[in-house]
Amino acid sequence: MPRGEAPYDGFADTFAREAADSPYNAHYDRPTVLELLGDVQGKRILDAGCGPGLYLAELTARGANVAGIDQSADMVRHTRTRLGPHVEVRQHDLNEPLAWAADSRFDIVLLALVLHYVEDRVRTLAELSRVLHPAGRIIVSTSHPTADWLTNGGSYFDARRAEEAWSNGMTHRYWRQPLQAWGSDFSAAGLAIDRASSNTRPPPQCPASTPPRTRN
Ligand SMILES: C[S@@+](CC[C@H](N)C(=O)[O-])C[C@H]1O[C@@H](n2cnc3c(N)ncnc32)[C@H](O)[C@@H]1O
Repeated sequence: MPRGEAPYDGFADTFAREAADSPYNAHYDRPTVLELLGDVQGKRILDAGCGPGLYLAELTARGANVAGIDQSADMVRHTRTRLGPHVEVRQHDLNEPLAWAADSRFDIVLLALVLHYVEDRVRTLAELSRVLHPAGRIIVSTSHPTADWLTNGGSYFDARRAEEAWSNGMTHRYWRQPLQAWGSDFSAAGLAIDRASSNTRPPPQCPASTPPRTRN
């Protein structure tokens, strides 16, 4: 990757357009995660890997006090345009320490569809828990290890970098590992998993736009 360029640079507009109404983002990931977030009125939330700010807009509308970070300058620009100048949005790579954030600054950290891009997830999760209030929560969504295995081949137990060419022209490079390894990353970072929604059914509007895949 050339210096100063992030994988999502050049794809912010496409992602924003697709994710605004796509079955996966708009009708599966966001409703599930927003339900896990619960009442966010007055909560201080860090949206880490905020992309084009779709979550930030929703959380702001629900009364949260939000900040967003993203590795991609394009995504940051997009979010600033969407949310205006009063929301704190920084270009920040989650592989780096959050030196600008004081301990316990946030009540909630949101990691929506981003943790699988992070190189050292234990170190990043530990750093995110530093900026989290001791009674705070990290809410995470990521792809299911079984889906990664079915898409990417090899053994379900492989723990390695994977690569896929997406139809929008982007090369999707991510970390895949079995479910047990994801759980271990959280424990190693000193976090306890309170709730896992690994088999959440898509809400009713989702199958209407994407017929369910069946296996013979
Ligand atoms: C699939 S998008 C999800 C965006 C947003 N969370 C959402 O769900 O609408 C992944 C985002 O993570 C960001 N990202 C990937 N690696 C990152 C890293 N190391 N540090 C910060 N952001 C990262 C990308 O730039 C992109 O905006």
